[in-house]
Amino acid sequence: MLQSAVSTPRAQSAFDRIADRSFRVGIIGLGYVGLPLVRTFARNGFTCVGFDIDPGKVEKLNSGVSYIRHLDASVFSEFIEDGRFTPTTEFSRIDALDACIICVPTPLNRYREPDLSSVVQTCESIAKHLRPGQLVVLESTTYPGTITDVVQPILQRGGLRAGSDFYLAFSPEREDPGNESFETATIPKVVGADDAESLALAAALYKEVVSRVVPVSTAATAEAVKITENIFRAVNIALVNELKVIYAAMNIDVWEVIEAAKTKPFGYMAFYPGPGLGGHCIPIDPFYLTWKAREYGLHTRFIELAGEINTRMPNYVVERLIEAIDRRLGKGLSGSAILLIGIAFKKNVDDMRESPSLKLIALIEARGGRVDYHDPFIEVTPPTREYPHFAGRRSVALSPRTIASYDAVLIATDHDGIDYAGIIDHAQIVIDTRNACARAGLASPKIVKA
Ligand SMILES: NC(=O)c1ccc[n+]([C@@H]2O[C@H](COP(=O)([O-])OP(=O)(O)OC[C@H]3O[C@@H](n4cnc5c(N)ncnc54)[C@H](O)[C@@H]3O)[C@@H](O)[C@H]2O)c1
Repeated sequence: MLQSAVSTPRAQSAFDRIADRSFRVGIIGLGYVGLPLVRTFARNGFTCVGFDIDPGKVEKLNSGVSYIRHLDASVFSEFIEDGRFTPTTEFSRIDALDACIICVPTPLNRYREPDLSSVVQTCESIAKHLRPGQLVVLESTTYPGTITDVVQPILQRGGLRAGSDFYLAFSPEREDPGNESFETATIPKVVGADDAESLALAAALYKEVVSRVVPVSTAATAEAVKITENIFRAVNIALVNELKVIYAAMNIDVWEVIEAAKTKPFGYMAFYPGPGLGGHCIPIDPFYLTWKAREYGLHTRFIELAGEINTRMPNYVVERLIEAIDRRLGKGLSGSAILLIGIAFKKNVDDMRESPSLKLIALIEARGGRVDYHDPFIEVTPPTREYPHFAGRRSVALSPRTIASYDAVLIATDHDGIDYAGIIDHAQIVIDTRNACARAGLASPKIVKA
C-alpha cells in the first residue's frame, strides 16, 4: 500500500533492487544492535557492509571471533567468506551503498544530558559520501526531533534534500539480548519518516527481513514510540521497587504478590523488582525525553520519580545487607567479606553497562567491606564509564569452601546455571535481590530477600 503511493523512477528502481537483493545495505555501529541486524539482512540474501570506528572489533570479526557472547562468531565468518558481510573501518565505502542504517551509542554525558556525539560523527561521515537515491535510517534510541533537528541538517550540508534527493527515516531497534523467544527478525519494526517516499522505501526494506513493519506518520512519532516503551519499563520497575520496600516493612513478599497478581487475565502486566536499573537503555533513554521536554517548559515528573526510586535501590540492598550481617553475625560491614553473584546487568548476558552490581560494590567498599564476584559470563571486569578502577577484577570460582569463606553472598544477577542450592548450603547469609532462590524452589532461613 505504502509502495503504491510512490511513483518516481528512482524509488521504483530501489524497490526492484530490494526485491532482487542487489540493494546494498550498510550498517554503522557493530554492537549489540548492529550485529544482529547484519545477521538478519545477510540471512535474507542482502550484501552488507558493517562499519565501526573500533578497529579491534572489525579485526575480531574478520578473524572469526565474536565479542558478544550470545552472537555466534561462525555465522558472521560464513557471511564474510561468501561475501555477504564485509566489516570495515573505511567509511569511504558508503559511496557504494544504497542504504546506511545507523546503530551507534546514544549515552548521557556527565551532566545526564543526551550525548549525540556518535550520531553526529556518523552523520558527518555519511554526509561526505551521500549521493542521490540513498536511504539513511537512524535506529539508535533518542529524543523526538533528532532526525529533523540533528540528522537531517548534517546530511543536507552538501546540498542534497531529504525526501527529494535522498531518503531519511527513523526505525527504533527493539533488541532484547539474552531473550531466546525473540530475535530481530521476529520483533515487529516501527518505521517513521517525514515524507511518503522515505517511509515507503524504509518500510519496503525492513519488510523483506522482519515479520511485521508498523509504519507511523513521522520520524518524531517513531522516535517517541521507542522512548515511550523504555519509559514504560522504567516507571513500572520503579513502582514494584517501591512496593518491595513497603511490603518488606509489612513482612509481605512482593514476589509472591506479583506471582498472584499476574494470574489476573487482563489489566495487569508483571514487572519485577531488583537491585536497580542496568543496561544501555532503561536507566538512560527516559532522560533524553526529560532533556527535550525542558525546551517546551515541561517537566517529566514520572520519569524523575522513577529515576529517584530506581537509583536508590542499591542503597536499599546494602542497608538490608548491613542489617543481616549485624543481626546474624553480630558484626559490621566494615571488615566483612561479601561474595557478589552476577556482575552483568541482567541474566545470561555478558553486558555490564550501567550494571547495578557496580554500584553495590562501590557502596559496600565505601563502608569498608571487601567484595569479590562470581559471574560465568564475565571472567574479567572491563573498564566501565563510571567505575574504570574496577577493571581487571576476576570472577572467583564457586566451591563450598570459597562460599563458606564469605560473611554473606549477595545475589545481584540471577544467571541460569548457578548452583543456588550449593550457595544456600554453604553460605552464612544469602541476600537475594532477584528472588532467584525461591524461583529455584529453594527456601532457607539464611535467605534475606532485598
Ligand atoms: N543493546 C540493546 O539491547 C539495545 C536495544 C534497543 C536499542 N538500543 C539502542 O541502539 C543503539 C546502539 O546500542 P548498542 O547496544 O548496539 O551499542 P554498542 O555499544 O553495543 O554498539 C555500538 C557500536 O558503535 C560503534 N561506534 C561508536 N561510535 C561510532 C561511530 N561514530 N561510527 C561508527 N561506529 C561507532 C562502537 O564502537 C560500537 O561497536 C543505542 O542508541 C541504544 O540505545 C540498544
